[in-house]
Amino acid sequence: MVSDDRAILANRVLSQIEEHRPYGGVVPEVAARSHLDHLDGIIKGAMDDAGLAFGQLDAVAATGGPGLIGGVMVGVMAAKAISLATERPFIAVNHLEAHALSARLSDDIAFPYLLLLVSGGHCQLLCVEGVGAYRRLGTTIDDALGEAFDKTAKMLGLGYPGGPAVEQAALLGDPERFALPRPMLQRPGCDFSFSGLKTSIRQTVEKLPPGDLLDQDVADLCAGFQAAAGDVLANRCRHAIATFRERRPDGNTLVVAGGVAANSYLRNRLHALTEAEGMDLAIPPQHLCTDNGAMVAWAGIERFRLGRSDGLDFAPRPRWPLDPDAPPAAFAGVKA
Ligand code: KG4
Ligand code: ZN
Repeated sequence: MVSDDRAILANRVLSQIEEHRPYGGVVPEVAARSHLDHLDGIIKGAMDDAGLAFGQLDAVAATGGPGLIGGVMVGVMAAKAISLATERPFIAVNHLEAHALSARLSDDIAFPYLLLLVSGGHCQLLCVEGVGAYRRLGTTIDDALGEAFDKTAKMLGLGYPGGPAVEQAALLGDPERFALPRPMLQRPGCDFSFSGLKTSIRQTVEKLPPGDLLDQDVADLCAGFQAAAGDVLANRCRHAIATFRERRPDGNTLVVAGGVAANSYLRNRLHALTEAEGMDLAIPPQHLCTDNGAMVAWAGIERFRLGRSDGLDFAPRPRWPLDPDAPPAAFAGVKA
């Protein structure tokens, strides 16, 4: 629950990680059922935290996509029911837009800005011109960065979710012990690729002596993976900054958002990059980088202010690109 003046009145996050852990990843059916089991309790808890009654709400927002459709349907149905009962507008929020606007909730960043969106499902650079106005400068041609973190963790026996586990293990590792690739570094533009890096981790593991990996091997691989990811992000962002500056000389901020933006090593790398480039950097605090309700509520407020709401016939969207007109990524289908 968020107010118009950027105050977060409630932000309950219920992790389903324990329910999915035995499977090593998110199981769609388990996710949908868990939403159904817990959503009403979370809504009641959030209302209690905020000390508000339903009649005091101005509007109700829910994620309308993209993503696993079962959970999205449960959330949309609940929000529509509250909207109907309270006679307040219902706002369907694009999950990616919620990440994209999160730095305006945390830091009041003005449009336009350059956005690096790095999550479990996406890895994109976008020029953010305004609410609902995004121009994609680059995207991944294969894995998202969060997905690469998760797969690396799985290969190294670090479990799920991978990002925080890899970050933790990397603290004690030597990033230079293994020579890992930096995909796309030689290419122009702002597109990403991470599948070659993932494959290289697998091949490196296979070359190590058979048996359980030593803790030091795991730490060195994690540190190497993170360093490679940092080099790739820095290189792609440097290209994007040049393009952004040409297009929008009135903007000078790089915003980083999405679950991977919680990673302290990558935050530091991007801090160094923006310092060198003379660019401002805004990254929301970690709890607003990983998925949370406050960023969805805030995106709802941004749309509500512009008079945008949705009908009760809104259908959840499994696919919902921020820039529907973006051309396909260059080099897609080509080995990076
Ligand atoms: O935005 P998010 O919470 O959910 C999606 O919209 O996908 O991002 C989740 C992703 C996962 O892949 C997770 O491993 C990654 O963000 N992640 C991290 C860290 N915390 C979460 N990756 C690297 N370092 C972290 N500290
Ligand atoms: Zn997300």
